[in-house]
Amino acid sequence: MCGIVGYLGSKKTKDILLDGLQELEYRGYDSAGIAVLQNDDFSVYKAVGKLVNLQEKAAAFDPSGFAIGIGHTRWATHGKPTELNAHPHLGESSYVVHNGIIENYAALKRELQESGAHFLSQTDTEVIVHLFEKELRTADSAFDAFTKTISQLQGAFAILLVTKSEDRTIFFAKQGSPMIVGRDADGEKYFASSDTPLIGKCSDVIYLDDGDYGYVTPETIAIFDKKSNKKEPHFSKLSTNKLSAQKGGFRFFMEKEIYEQSEVIIDTLLGRIFDKEIHFEELDSKLFDGINEIKLCACGTSYHSALVSSYLFERYAKIRVSVEIASEFRYKEPLLCQDTLFVAISQSGETADTLETLKMAKEAGLKTLVICNVDNSSMVRLADASILTRAGIEKGVASTKAFATQVVVFWMLSLYIAKLKNSLTTEQIEKQISLLREVPSVLKIKEGLHEKITRLSKRYLHGHGFFFIGRDIFYPLALEGALKLKEITYLHAEGYPSGEMKHGPIALADPELFTIALLPQHMLYEKSKSNVEELSARDSTICAISPVEFDKADDYIKTSDVRDYMLEFFEMMVIVQLLSMEIAIRLGNDVDMPRNLAKSVTVE
Ligand code: G6P
Repeated sequence: MCGIVGYLGSKKTKDILLDGLQELEYRGYDSAGIAVLQNDDFSVYKAVGKLVNLQEKAAAFDPSGFAIGIGHTRWATHGKPTELNAHPHLGESSYVVHNGIIENYAALKRELQESGAHFLSQTDTEVIVHLFEKELRTADSAFDAFTKTISQLQGAFAILLVTKSEDRTIFFAKQGSPMIVGRDADGEKYFASSDTPLIGKCSDVIYLDDGDYGYVTPETIAIFDKKSNKKEPHFSKLSTNKLSAQKGGFRFFMEKEIYEQSEVIIDTLLGRIFDKEIHFEELDSKLFDGINEIKLCACGTSYHSALVSSYLFERYAKIRVSVEIASEFRYKEPLLCQDTLFVAISQSGETADTLETLKMAKEAGLKTLVICNVDNSSMVRLADASILTRAGIEKGVASTKAFATQVVVFWMLSLYIAKLKNSLTTEQIEKQISLLREVPSVLKIKEGLHEKITRLSKRYLHGHGFFFIGRDIFYPLALEGALKLKEITYLHAEGYPSGEMKHGPIALADPELFTIALLPQHMLYEKSKSNVEELSARDSTICAISPVEFDKADDYIKTSDVRDYMLEFFEMMVIVQLLSMEIAIRLGNDVDMPRNLAKSVTVE
């Protein structure tokens, strides 16, 4: 996820920008850059990879005295992570940094190219600076040109722009993506896309609202709202605690990451879903030539998303799928055939067991694909192709947003293959894509839901065990729910297919056995309901999660009346995550760093 910083003043401009970018590193990025304007002269540095590369490039640059500067960490969406695609982007005499997406960039780019603009990058961002320079030729002032520019942009953005003709001004705009303006004790001005770069530097900050735009100079902060009315700057005091700022006001990183899921799914979808098809810039469709089977390997939570994918691949792409736990696969002397695409799934890209299976598949001559959250990780470097999940850095050991993004990538991939294999009609693919677009709103946590789960959690602190049960893709979700609970509450939990309970586990049923029943209305509702009734008849304590009221349950968490089981999946996913977290909090456990666990297991 991209990050923005800006500074206007007489202190060490380069250090302020680079320090600010460092504070944004935790969000994840694959390239970075800064542009500093001083005495009518721009100094610009960009580098791919870690910030240290940028620091090295800019080592000899040491501006002193008044300067204005903007900086950016980029997480590639439109265009690969290259130096040319890194921000800031240049027009003729202006630079811009941008977070978000300009939805109408293709049309704007065509028009600008027709009128002579020369584009250097593949990004949507570059249209902003060319549009600004085009407007500047006829506008009354640079601010007038900036205002006209942003009025033509559609989508979500946070923008900083600097231009030679106004070398004491930074222009800004915010629509959908976060942007904060800060002021230090000397009245110097700062910008950042989140609190952390500003802590220790500014005491007063303005959290811009959507639609706000304006400019800062050494003397002023001018803010206008979306109706172009001038606003009084409203300053808030900035916290001095970096860790709490990184947690964004949440008690734990896990909680923040659960709440972030809606936002990160927007990133996962960016540039990949179109009206009638799915597009993965990083994939060559030849990867699927001659492929009759997909074999997936992973550990932990990633294994559960792979299980979800096995339903989607067979259902939509009509392709044979097998899923294996990596540590098992390594030693089973697996039969590996050339018509199999081997897919490794990993949040970190470093898990030793999964990495080893990828090496085995490569040695056997199979085509390989990695679904991963970390660019340049060992797995990404090793595989023939990779798709990044774009969840941003996940700090909580118990994975949440990484899982959500993995499932979304698999859903998109199943439609991508369905198109290649003609296994779904265009109308069916269109419908699936329109459902994908609804995921971010389903993942927004509805008012009262978290509070209800917190209240309910006090009844689930004891007992002799939990069963999370579901059918179809709600079975891997049940496995994932049970894993979350085990990881952070240290209580015993199992995930089970609802229909399988009668073949053994039902013997455990009594009031001290807690059943968390996933009852979606659009996937085998009646069948699942009968399975839960069997448990209820044996006096198991039942917590039903469903849009349909269920009178045999002891507790009931109502979900929304959405139009497809995939949407029900994501809402129920959030509920099981929150339930585990609230039980863990009541038990006094360290939610972010549970005992005995590591975020990334790089040993066998
Ligand atoms: C560890 C973590 C789990 C994670 C698993 C696989 O066990 O604690 O949360 O699911 O590794 O990690 P990966 O990075 O490969 O997805």
